[in-house]
This record gives sequence, C-alpha cells and structure tokens, in this order.
Amino acid sequence: MKYDLNRIVDRTGTNSLKWEFGSRVHPKVTGNTLPLWVADMDFPCAEPILLALRKRIDREIFGYSLHYTGEYFRAVCSWMQRRFNWWVHSEDIFVAPGIVPALSDLVRCFSKEGDGVIIQRPVYGPFTSRVERNGRFVVDNALINKDGYYSMDFDDLEAKASDPKNTMMILCSPHNPVGRVWTEEELKKVADICFSNDVVLVSDEIHYDIVRSGETHLVLDSLFPGDDRIITCTAPSKSFNLAGMQVSHIVIRNDEYKKRWEAATGHPMLSPLAITAVQAAYNESEDWLGQVNDYIDLNLEFIHTFLKEHLPDAVYRVPEGTYLAWIDLGAYVFEGDSLTDFLIEDAGVFIDGGNKFGPEYGSFQRINAACPRAILEDCLGRVASSLKKRSSK
Ligand SMILES: Cc1ncc(COP(=O)(O)O)c(C=O)c1O
Repeated sequence: MKYDLNRIVDRTGTNSLKWEFGSRVHPKVTGNTLPLWVADMDFPCAEPILLALRKRIDREIFGYSLHYTGEYFRAVCSWMQRRFNWWVHSEDIFVAPGIVPALSDLVRCFSKEGDGVIIQRPVYGPFTSRVERNGRFVVDNALINKDGYYSMDFDDLEAKASDPKNTMMILCSPHNPVGRVWTEEELKKVADICFSNDVVLVSDEIHYDIVRSGETHLVLDSLFPGDDRIITCTAPSKSFNLAGMQVSHIVIRNDEYKKRWEAATGHPMLSPLAITAVQAAYNESEDWLGQVNDYIDLNLEFIHTFLKEHLPDAVYRVPEGTYLAWIDLGAYVFEGDSLTDFLIEDAGVFIDGGNKFGPEYGSFQRINAACPRAILEDCLGRVASSLKKRSSK
C-alpha cells in the first residue's frame, strides 16, 4: 500500500463540517459524537495534490484567478475520456462552486415556477430542497426496493414524464443513497422516456469515480453521442476528497441551454488553490483513487459481515457505487422512535437518518464508509450495542 489509509488524521481545528459543525445540523450532536454522516472522506488527500498546493502557496499571492487554460481543460477532459470514454469539449464545461448550488440554477434555468421535477426517492436530500425552494414541485418516481436491491419503476416514470406539468428530471447516477450503478439498459430507458416527453434530463454523476471493483459506471451522456439534450454534473470533490475546494463541472452541450445557463450564472471564478488541486488530482492522483476504492470495497464488505453477526435483522447490500452504506434498521426501530436521535444520544454516533432522503425512510441510516477501518468499527460497535441493549429491555 503506497498510502496508509488506516491512519487517523485529526480534523479538529480545520473547520470540518463533519467533525466540528454537526451540531448545526442536529442539535443533539456534541464534540464527542463520532461523525460518519456528510459525504467527505477521512483519508488525507493524494500526495501529488498536497505537493502541488504547497508549491502554489510558495507563489505567495492568491488574487482573482481563472481556469481558462489548456492545462486545466486537458486535465478535466482527459480524465473524462480515459476513465469513461466520454468525449467532452472544453467549451461544454462550466464550473460551479458545487453541484447543490448548480442544481438550484439548473432548476431555475430549465423549468418554470409551478412545474414538476421528477426525482427518484430515496435520494440525496437537496434534490428535494432545491426543487421546492425554487417554487417547483417534487414528483417522486420512487425506486422499487426488493430486499435491499433497488430498481426503477419505468411504468410510473413514463406516466409522470408524459404529464406536461412535469418538465425536468434529476437522475442520481451512481445513486446516493441506494448505491446502484445503473446499467446501460436502465440509463437508455430513462433517457428515451425523457426525450420522448420533452423532459429536460439532468444527470448528477458526482459519485462516478467511486464504484466497487468489477463495476463500471457509464456516463449517461456518453451513451448518446451527437445528442445534446443531457446535462451532466460531475466533480472532483467526492473522488479526491476536495469538497471544501468547491469545484464542480456542469457539462452542457446544447447551444440554447448554454446561453440560458451563462445568462443566469455568468462566469464564476475558482480559487487558485482549487485550480491547482483539480489539475494535480486528474493528472497525477489516479493511483490514490484506485487504492481508496479498494479500501472502500473492504469497508463496505466489512459492514456486511458485521451486520450479519451483530444485527442480523438489518437489511443491507454492499452498494455497487458510492462510499455510502444504506441500511434498513426497521427491525430495531420502535413506534414513534427517532433512530437518529437515539443513536446520537445513546451510541454517541451521528450518521445520516433515512428521512433526509425521503419522508418514508425513517428506519434507514446511511453510514459514510470513507474512513479508516478503526473509525468504522468503532461506529458499528456502538450502534450494535445500543440497539441490542434496547431490544433486550
Ligand atoms: C448526489 C449528490 N449530489 C451533490 C452532492 C454535493 O455536491 P456539492 O458538494 O458539489 O454541492 C452530493 C454530496 O453528497 C451528492 O451525493
């Protein structure tokens, strides 16, 4: 192992949302609560990124900076080509400070107030909040759950897409939190349904670099060469643990869409450190990502083994993509219970409650497994002993 991913890095005093500001999200969280919630990693960044940043810091000035260089776009576009066989022109790439703010802008640019936006719950919470905050309505094409394995309900999607009030769909691929890496057949069906009903299709592929070994992520847009109707959101943030650098890439090919997007968002600047980090990530850090993916494979498998032994009624499948474990603890939940509150107060762990992903999913918890094994073991041990103690009362 080139990188020691078992090493626990102290994140206190670094303004970490995950470790230091959990109480802003949940008032019961204290300084001693073990946090495996928000999706960033507890692994130190790849050495080439750290070296490049140190060199850039030595240049001493951090003034307004632009990323419009061949070097920047070569790094981004060649990543897309060599990892996904996805050919993207630099003129089709727009930077945004994050996919969440971009989703708000996309909703405002490509739908009207009062329109319906189709999402597939359980799904990443801001899909709901960004739609609703902008005066649109969530139209839920709920995923079908069969023993922890999720699939799409295409009949329902067809019915919802054919309603002229529903003008946009936001796809999550790979899917957070259910962990599906969608197949070519599934992706093509989604796109065909949206295309034939003139539904604008936005594909959020922020997790595309994190998949289990043997799985292949297909970029939806790459399946439709020459077609310009799909808008794709990607980022180096999940892949290289750079969320705080606030860079994402929104790929828009259609000229009319581009005009609308530019009119709404202008041309945002990136921080000079972000530019440096992105280039070093895509050009020099692929081996780090490979090692991190291998480590996450084992962590997610470890969760499986642990649950079988200690919480056998939990429903969990190793996800095909993402570093997030989506676990149904319904067998351990009592009527009127808030599992998240109980786990914070009794077990001293903060993991994401399922109701963040849709109101019906309160019995689920989503554990962020991108951390050293010792942290994961500590978390699972605490959860199991709290739930077992309570069940035996
Ligand atoms: C599907 C999805 N989209 C977007 C984000 C966040 O994106 P950003 O940090 O770029 O706003 C996340 C973070 O977990 C996510 O899971």
